[in-house]
Amino acid sequence: MIEATNLVKRFGPTVAVNDISFTVAKGEVLGFLGPNGAGKTTTMRILTCFLVADSGTATVAGYDIHEDPIEVRRRIGYLPETAPLYNDMTVVDYLNFIAEARGIRNGGRKAAVDRMIEVTSLKGVTKQSIGSLSRGYRQRVGLAQTLIHDPEILILDEPTSGLDPNQIIEIRELIKRLGEEKTVLLSTHILPEVSATCSRMIIIDQGELVASGTPEELSNQASREGTTVVSIRGPLPEITSTLAAAPWVADWHQVGESIGDLHRLRLRGSEGRDIAEDLFRTVVTKGWSLAELYREQVSLEEVFLRLTMSERGDAAKEERSEVNPE
Ligand SMILES: Nc1ncnc2c1ncn2[C@@H]1O[C@H](COP(=O)(O)OP(=O)(O)OP(=O)(O)O)[C@@H](O)[C@H]1O
Ligand SMILES: [Mg+2]
Repeated sequence: MIEATNLVKRFGPTVAVNDISFTVAKGEVLGFLGPNGAGKTTTMRILTCFLVADSGTATVAGYDIHEDPIEVRRRIGYLPETAPLYNDMTVVDYLNFIAEARGIRNGGRKAAVDRMIEVTSLKGVTKQSIGSLSRGYRQRVGLAQTLIHDPEILILDEPTSGLDPNQIIEIRELIKRLGEEKTVLLSTHILPEVSATCSRMIIIDQGELVASGTPEELSNQASREGTTVVSIRGPLPEITSTLAAAPWVADWHQVGESIGDLHRLRLRGSEGRDIAEDLFRTVVTKGWSLAELYREQVSLEEVFLRLTMSERGDAAKEERSEVNPE
């Protein structure tokens, strides 16, 4: 449904989008994840034909963004980062206006507006001016205008940003429901959002695609690169010299103090290999004993942080670690 190929967009010296390619299959809800400034909005603006890519291309529902921008926009519902709402209009007038602009004719228009009021739960505020609405209700009006022409594809730029926890749950439920029939690309920097709503995700950082897969695939991948914790009973000097010489160990260190001749170690296998069996065999051969052996689980949060925080200064890390995933 969406096929982006080698998209590049520069703003002066900034490469906002750097050679990004991905696809979104029909009926898929793809989470577009990345820290602030990663290039999510820029990519979405290219796909919705609000911005022209410097190079690369994309097709949306089979139409090329450069050659058929009008056909592309007809098939897309786009919720921008800040929805351009008209504050003086009432909700119902605004939705009528949008329906008209979308070319929905007289008879169909009232039905479309009523349907949107229903779907986005706007019943109580239809006569209120948009300017007087709370942030969450404004966001719902934004979603209503995104959906009113019943597009096949939804491109939602941080649909839950600024909402309270109840509203977040409501909007997520709505997106999930919509995702049953439509193709959805949604951006977020909130990880639980991805697990809650998306069937697959791609992670971008500094304009580049750094990972893609289902949430499970990504955490599996990370846990393969994860660490093994082992408690060995035996003579510490011999244990350390053996591990230091073992080709299958990338690095290791002791965890805490030894308790008598019991030593707890954390190890990483070379080239991401699982070293449980190597460890077990070594312990047996040497005549030591094994008190504990397990792989450390890696959460999706850690995957995300690892992928998007490498090669950055500590200041950026500290600043970003305060971005609370809710
Ligand atoms: N119109 C513009 N002029 C100059 N630079 C821009 C413009 N739009 C975006 N950028 C830059 O491009 C980069 C990517 O921005 P973008 O808005 O796509 O990030 P984002 O992933 O949507 O971030 P956020 O999570 O903060 O919304 C940033 O460095 C940004 O400053
Ligand atoms: Mg953005």
